[in-house]
Amino acid sequence: EKAGFDHFMLKEIYEQPKAYRDTMLGRMADDGKSVNLKELSMSADYIKSIRKVHIVACGTAYHAGLVGKSVIESLARIPVETDVASEYRYRSPIITPDTLVIVVSQSGETADTLAALREAQKNGAKVLAITNVVGSSVAREADDVIVTWAGPEIAVASTKAYTSQLIAFYLFGLHLAGVLGTQEQAEVEALIAGLHALPEQVESILEQAAVLKQVAESMSHHKSLFFIGRGVDYAVAQEGSLKLKEISYIHSEAYAAGELKHGTLALIEEGIPVIALVTQEALYEKTLSNIKEVKARGAHVLAVANNGSEEEVAKSVDEILAIPKTLPILSPALAVVPLQLLSYYASLALGHDVDKPRNLAKSVTVE
Ligand code: F6R
Repeated sequence: EKAGFDHFMLKEIYEQPKAYRDTMLGRMADDGKSVNLKELSMSADYIKSIRKVHIVACGTAYHAGLVGKSVIESLARIPVETDVASEYRYRSPIITPDTLVIVVSQSGETADTLAALREAQKNGAKVLAITNVVGSSVAREADDVIVTWAGPEIAVASTKAYTSQLIAFYLFGLHLAGVLGTQEQAEVEALIAGLHALPEQVESILEQAAVLKQVAESMSHHKSLFFIGRGVDYAVAQEGSLKLKEISYIHSEAYAAGELKHGTLALIEEGIPVIALVTQEALYEKTLSNIKEVKARGAHVLAVANNGSEEEVAKSVDEILAIPKTLPILSPALAVVPLQLLSYYASLALGHDVDKPRNLAKSVTVE
């Protein structure tokens, strides 16, 4: 049932190109000019009435929601807040009928996420669920559902469910933009072409697994490390850090690159690994200067950068992993893949139970 793979997690990482294709299937016009989520019952008038969006989820799904915020704000120009469900419930969030609440859950059974959904509906807001399980509680109770077609995810550490959630956000962002007219047609077509290119681009990253295995093995001797990035790279950094912690038990922290000098630099010492995400062209210079700050204090820096900019970035770092070039907003769907592999190989090198990490459950149905 692992189809020749040693672990479910590895199998699921390799299933991502298929999960991307399946999640996009039938949701775009044949001419590649628009996205149409026919399964949604929300009307164009309703979409025009949305004044703000709240994205609510836990763990990895929350990290998808952080990317979702950037996607919806940039494509549809609607203000978005992303919250951890266990915080959202108890902070008396300001939910009004013109708030769209999006809950994101692989299992569709997470207790805090389900409670957030109910809280939103009680306050008169519509709820859109992004979930991987068609008949789940979240899917049944939400007003609208976008199913991610990742297929069953068995490993506790979420991989293909996360990336399929990203695809769902891209599709929904484009759906909103189509109704609201917030994007130029050329921009929409470029994004759709970019989405179609992703599965093959992921395949080319998977071909670099052997390099990542080596990096992971040397990283696994360290007690602690950092992930840094700006913009959506920061969101990906947070997901990379969670993945590493949960299956390798190596301590790590994700930091917004510009925030390092406000305290965290004190923790940078000789030899500490820093994984820097440098995929956002508009922010290259800024992130490179943060990389120089950690290098000057002895950090060993591995950068994940786009093809085309890797020569420039390589001058400032110790190791570089080039990923295919895509539009900046689509980059998380590629940049997270090497981080998933790093976590997998680090866990393997340390002899841990990759698919069933200690203390964790696949579905958290209690508070
Ligand atoms: C991490 C992981 C968890 C889940 C979280 C939410 O790899 O799997 O952080 O993402 O427990 O679960 P769902 O998406 O089922 O609501």
